Amino acid sequence: MSAYETLDPADWEDLRSLGHDMIDDMISWMKDLRDRPVWQPMSIEQKEEFFEDLPDRGIGPQKVYEEFRSEVLPYIMGNPHPRFWAWYMGSSSIQGALADFLTSVTNSNAGAGNHVGQLIEDQVIQWMSEIVGYPKMAGGIIVSGGSMANFVGLAVARNVYSGHDLRSEGLRQSDRQMTIYASTEVHSCNQKALELMGIGANYFRRIPVNDDYTIRIENLRNKIAEDRSNGFHPVCIIGTAGTVNTGAIDDLENLAKVCEEEDLWFHVDGAIGAIAMLSDHVRPQLKGIERSDSVALDLHKWMHIPFEAGCVLVKDRKQHKSTFQLTPEYLQQNVRGLASGNDWYSDYGIQLSRRLKALKIWMAVKEYGVLKLGRMISRNVEQAVYLASLVSEDPELELTAPIGLDIVCYRYKPTEGTYDLNALNKEILIQIQELGIAVPSYTTLNGNYCIRVAIANHRSRRNDFEFLIQATINIGQSIKEDFVI
Ligand SMILES: Cc1ncc(COP(=O)(O)O)c(C=O)c1O
Repeated sequence: MSAYETLDPADWEDLRSLGHDMIDDMISWMKDLRDRPVWQPMSIEQKEEFFEDLPDRGIGPQKVYEEFRSEVLPYIMGNPHPRFWAWYMGSSSIQGALADFLTSVTNSNAGAGNHVGQLIEDQVIQWMSEIVGYPKMAGGIIVSGGSMANFVGLAVARNVYSGHDLRSEGLRQSDRQMTIYASTEVHSCNQKALELMGIGANYFRRIPVNDDYTIRIENLRNKIAEDRSNGFHPVCIIGTAGTVNTGAIDDLENLAKVCEEEDLWFHVDGAIGAIAMLSDHVRPQLKGIERSDSVALDLHKWMHIPFEAGCVLVKDRKQHKSTFQLTPEYLQQNVRGLASGNDWYSDYGIQLSRRLKALKIWMAVKEYGVLKLGRMISRNVEQAVYLASLVSEDPELELTAPIGLDIVCYRYKPTEGTYDLNALNKEILIQIQELGIAVPSYTTLNGNYCIRVAIANHRSRRNDFEFLIQATINIGQSIKEDFVI
């Protein structure tokens, strides 16, 4: 008689052995990261060959894994590598990957139900609240990342400050247009959130910054006053704790004061910097974060949890819940059984079915303890200072912004001659990436294209930065003549 068909393996022992091979291979891959190029591009032919017809019949787990090893693994993004410093990402860990495996095998739905997943997430939210100085019973939820964390915090701000029952009546009921404030350096995900919420990008007031890229409080106050006198309805200020371009931390203490005086919601986009409350070195710069109404944290960044892991905290749990709770008959809670409990996470965000992302965070905090995580953050900040010193010491390099947290922006600038420096630095950056040397990214500050090194990496060592600087100079010297103007 043929076996009853399910998606389980045909032979459990074969699968066990394949699983062991995968784990062995991946542990070695992670251990030997440093010996490989950070990133390598796929050729056009490889990209074309990658696509195939929809498979009618499967090829089995062994062959799929072989394809993963030959066609996927060599061309991954490379962010766990010790010299990956692009955009702003964490470098993950093999333990986090194993925790993800446990999450997938057990496959609990973290949106609803009376099961231990709820306690794990409650615990993580409590720990995060403690880290940022919120009360223990603050509201919060684990989300996919910083974008979603900001979205949730801003949605609560909008609903609480709308002045009417926005959930029932929608925005058309508002007699005045809501306005939200942040610096020109605020991350674009906040604009997306406000567009999706119907507030509209034009009413997202971008306030100029000081030389250190922090928001100008005087301009902010003036803009709020001007908006009020023109009949607008100021609702919320977003302070950034670690801007994406340069790592600048807004003056959170003063922003809290403005919010209190003006009766505005204070949201902190702490995707980069909020978790740096764990670092003795950085904590004083974040003073005021505890006075906010909501804060977005991004744990797949400086806490190195594998993607995806963001977290939003809302100081007043009731306000958080009243923005999202909706209980149709099929989600009514029972007094006992799996559907019991009265605080399901689906009442704190827009997802119903949710992966138990809290498990890998819970395991990481327990495994490392927060002191070690704080030390990793402090070390990256020291490394940023070291990299900046290498730049400053070299006459052919220049810093293009003050160092904020762990982000260094610099460019190659020959001591003599006139060059198209923007094009030259873009080419240097691309070559550094294509040669597999390192993966910094880029930004443009005051019209100057620069190489941007965001050091959220627990594997980087000092000599990695020396290597980067040497490569920048070598490549710059070898190609600069092509950029003479
Ligand atoms: C300051 C800031 N906020 C929000 C985000 C968005 O976070 P995510 O990419 O996790 O959605 C980023 C991403 O780099 C960021 O730097």
